[in-house]
Amino acid sequence: MKHILDELDQRRANARLGGGEKRIAAQHKRGKLTARERIELLLDSGSFEEFDTFVEHRCADFGMEANKIPGDGVVTGWGTVNGRQVFVFAKDFTVFGGSLSEAHAAKITKIQDMALKTRSPIIGLFDAGGARIQEGVAALGGYGEVFKRNVTASGVIPQISLIMGPCAGGDVYSPAMTDFIFMVRDTSYMFVTGPDVVKTVTNETVTAEELGGAKVHTSKSSVADGAFDNDVEALLQMRRLIDFLPANNQSGVPQWPSFDDGERLDASLDTLVPDNPNKPYDIKELIGKVVDEGDFFEIQAAFAGNIVTGFGRVEGRTVGIVANQPMVLAGVLDSDASRKAARFVRFCDAFEIPILTLVDVPGFLPGTAQEYGGLIKHGAKLLFAYSQATVPLVTVITRKAFGGAYDVMASKHVGGDVNYAWPTAQIAVMGAKGAVEIIFRADIDDPEKIAARTKEYEARFLSPFVAAERGYIDEVIAPRSTRKRIARALAMLRSKHVETPAKKHDNLPL
Ligand code: HXC
Repeated sequence: MKHILDELDQRRANARLGGGEKRIAAQHKRGKLTARERIELLLDSGSFEEFDTFVEHRCADFGMEANKIPGDGVVTGWGTVNGRQVFVFAKDFTVFGGSLSEAHAAKITKIQDMALKTRSPIIGLFDAGGARIQEGVAALGGYGEVFKRNVTASGVIPQISLIMGPCAGGDVYSPAMTDFIFMVRDTSYMFVTGPDVVKTVTNETVTAEELGGAKVHTSKSSVADGAFDNDVEALLQMRRLIDFLPANNQSGVPQWPSFDDGERLDASLDTLVPDNPNKPYDIKELIGKVVDEGDFFEIQAAFAGNIVTGFGRVEGRTVGIVANQPMVLAGVLDSDASRKAARFVRFCDAFEIPILTLVDVPGFLPGTAQEYGGLIKHGAKLLFAYSQATVPLVTVITRKAFGGAYDVMASKHVGGDVNYAWPTAQIAVMGAKGAVEIIFRADIDDPEKIAARTKEYEARFLSPFVAAERGYIDEVIAPRSTRKRIARALAMLRSKHVETPAKKHDNLPL
């Protein structure tokens, strides 16, 4: 018996070495951890249970029959994050560059199937060179199997991708179909085709970083939802994110102990909105003062800063937050902001996460660049997302809510359950200047008359009371009581139940 146990230990030790000491040293030299070190950091200490440690590829071409490494370039299994079960796969770059073979794909799909069966989140750690070139179509088939499962699981269990090295070819499309993609700065990049192919096809000279580094994907393409400075920080932040997420679409949000009183008042909020309506203020200050202990996990912080999206908690329960940001482009809705917020709203709705919407929006951004870029379609995405949401929707208008953007931002009319406004709110078709110049065009050359008309318009429309008179606003609230009002509204809405007509699926304006 002993020698059998010794052999098991020996085989395990061999598998844990992956591509060998030299390649592990090279990985470390690049500032990257190995697949197993990453899993250790991601999961609760000692909780990892590995699957398929001894799986090998079956390729017999190009001398591969003599080149087999147990595990075949991916470490898979399950464990816990702060006691909650998750499934994980981590590409092992030290083994054939983490490339995907048929056997490697089968390890991933096994984990995907287990995660779906047990309704647990799945996290993929990517560091790989795409399809195993020696395997040809068998590798492509493997990718297809992974992709299909990504889509089947979408909206059922949270799927998170963390890019921690190269990520090319087939390896970009699986992350692209997951809920969130995060990257590690300077060591990770994602592209469909690398710099060499780009040079051949388009004659562009570009580095890997310029083509698909973390900066590009978090601020330009919006493919990635965030970036972190190194492996350790990225993995610890993934633990933090998982704490916010439900295990699946039927589990409800996690409930953590809260040490922040839901009834807490904050007098500083009474002076947050400046007297001058054209002066910005930081909406993140309001977010920080509303959520438990100021703990806010921002999604897509570097993209479309005119809208802020992310997760916080109120009384220990997760809430998704969407907020116009007056500090960036006056909080206007443009195509990027609409797309960003729409995707976030749909994630929250799919996973039964209540949404808090903080509104200070001067409207949609005018101009040819926006119109040619499809503002109508992108704006419609956000309108569609809110209109279709059945989760609790609590809205607070702090200042401007102008035009179509008023309707879009979780107004009563598209499904807002509890809609509050601060006394500083201005709910109107447009701001005073634009409105007066249109409806009193005849007086345009008479500054006195225009000034009087502007005052009249401001007094009548630039307040929350016209909307409150109609019941479009449920209550005008003191800014200091915002957290208390939200906490009570969310508690009241916990039992919200909405029936929607049967359909195969909707036709979101893509
Ligand atoms: C087999 C691969 C491999 C691959 C890397 N390796 N990529 N083996 N198939 N796709 C191996 C290398 O041979 C090497 O083995 C080891 O991994 C490390 O690779 P290096 O090139 O030495 O590392 P580095 O210089 O860091 O470059 C990493 C890299 C580069 C940028 C990822 O390896 C690369 O460009 N690989 C190919 C990327 C690619 O074109 N993949 C196919 C995409 S097409 P040794 O033994 O020397 O350590 C695709 C189609 C799917 O994925 C589409 C589905 C929709």
